[in-house]
Amino acid sequence: MKGYEKYTPFGRITQLTDREWPDKLIEKAPIWCSVDLRDGNQALVDPMNLEEKIKMFRELVRVGFKEIEVGFPSASETEYEILRALIERGLIPDDVTIQVLVQAREHLIRKTFEAIEGAKNVIVHFYNSTSTLQRKVVFKKDMDAITDIAVNGAKLIRQLTDQMDTGSMNIRFEYSPESFSGTEPEFAVAICDAVAQAIGADKEHPIIFNLPSTVQLSTPNIFADQIEYFCKHISNREAVIVSVHPHNDRGTGVADAELALLAGADRIEGTLFGNGERTGNVDIVTLALNMFTQGIDPTLDFSDIKRTRAIYEECTRMKVHERTPYAGDLVFTAFSGSHQDAIKKGTDYMAETHSDKWEVPYLPISPADVGREYEPIIRINSQSGKGGAAFIMQQVFGYNMPKGMHPEFGYYVKKEADAKGKELTPEEIFSLFDRQYLHARSPYALGKHELYNTVAENEDESVTTFRGTVKCHNEEIAIEGSGNGPIDAFFDALKQLGIPNYKFVSYHEHAIGNGADAKACAYIELLTPEGANVYGVGVHSNINVASIKGIVSAVNRALQLSASL
Ligand code: KIV
Ligand code: ZN
Repeated sequence: MKGYEKYTPFGRITQLTDREWPDKLIEKAPIWCSVDLRDGNQALVDPMNLEEKIKMFRELVRVGFKEIEVGFPSASETEYEILRALIERGLIPDDVTIQVLVQAREHLIRKTFEAIEGAKNVIVHFYNSTSTLQRKVVFKKDMDAITDIAVNGAKLIRQLTDQMDTGSMNIRFEYSPESFSGTEPEFAVAICDAVAQAIGADKEHPIIFNLPSTVQLSTPNIFADQIEYFCKHISNREAVIVSVHPHNDRGTGVADAELALLAGADRIEGTLFGNGERTGNVDIVTLALNMFTQGIDPTLDFSDIKRTRAIYEECTRMKVHERTPYAGDLVFTAFSGSHQDAIKKGTDYMAETHSDKWEVPYLPISPADVGREYEPIIRINSQSGKGGAAFIMQQVFGYNMPKGMHPEFGYYVKKEADAKGKELTPEEIFSLFDRQYLHARSPYALGKHELYNTVAENEDESVTTFRGTVKCHNEEIAIEGSGNGPIDAFFDALKQLGIPNYKFVSYHEHAIGNGADAKACAYIELLTPEGANVYGVGVHSNINVASIKGIVSAVNRALQLSASL
């Protein structure tokens, strides 16, 4: 590929030799700030209207965001009106802080202060661009001139805050050295120190320094170095909340945010599903659920991810990609047979051991924890393993087939998927099971019958007798047999039909459903004289009848098999 020579490698821009972040772990959730209604919204083809913004705002509140950037009120009348509507309609809960963005420019700052009148908790977020490239090609200003813009903005904000009747208002401040990722680390610290001083930040009134990777320029380890450098060199660290605002140009927004936490960041700005300028902002859903799967309370509630996603898609008119972590349509679907088998083994293991830890391979999170069902976890196609269909039968329909039966049923499933040339739905899998086993009624169907026990004289032994009919091609044939139980007795009776001498191999049964509606399901395995193992399944409210139906199913299937050879 031609052209790469014109790009300059980013390299290490900090002199950080004693970096600590590689040895750290994420142990608690950061302060989250949603910028869906600002950064996310400004990147939409059709920005949200008032009602959509309100709907999205409500969802963000429901999910648990305590800081929400609601817009850029000085940028347009619409943005201004939306902010006023949120305040005047009393839509902002007392424990939620709204954040408003403004450039560090006098008239815009003044307009912003008009817009926030009457809000209870506000973060005034001001910014100017500080990177080497922007100073050179956009502003054509040196570091001092860029610092002046930020400091003058800070002074005006301090002054307007002091003038405002803040008795009922709690105003906090956030400054972003925009394009921080491309700013010399020493300059980023210096400009932020100057802003902190101008605004009068202290331990009781800390300022948020938001360090955006406005454009991602490096690998996440370099970004982590930049953050650790900032945290270690900023004056009066106690008076500062370090925030990051990763974009996703290199596809590493989540990595940037996670490493930034290791490097000392306290707060993360991002959006649902990573909406935002160009490749988007960091995806907070992924970040929060990544923490959840590490046993950390993310403090955000994505247990109804389908609802959050639906509101997001409705308001933004963007689509969540099928492979988006945790929320995409296909992320709980295993197409590979070996994955399906392992998932089934993991679920079985958890059930058998009553494990309260999540121990299922290939599923880093229980789909149920985000409000998604087990049913669509596995879709069955011609590549699926034998365990996949059995898993569906168990999870969706309650049929717990014995292990030995999996290959047999798996064979029919694969054949059907091949014939249809597509994956099978759980309903199609059940219908196949029904046809193959539950409705295997040809040539023989069980007719009226009775089973009774005769107790021998010594009372220690009893004999079970089967007496009844089987239908074969509209002919009703009476049969009778006895043995030491219903299965034995029915086998004895079958001899009168002159069918081959099938050997009984195994029997499994379990209940399906609960209470008065519960039924018994019996699985019978026979060995044919040709040496083939064949299964039959019977379901009935009476366990003895279920077993006999299971034998009839197995015999019919064995006869059909022999006929097809
Ligand atoms: O990406 C960015 O730098 C921003 C700032 C305005 C914080 O959105
Ligand atoms: Zn941004």
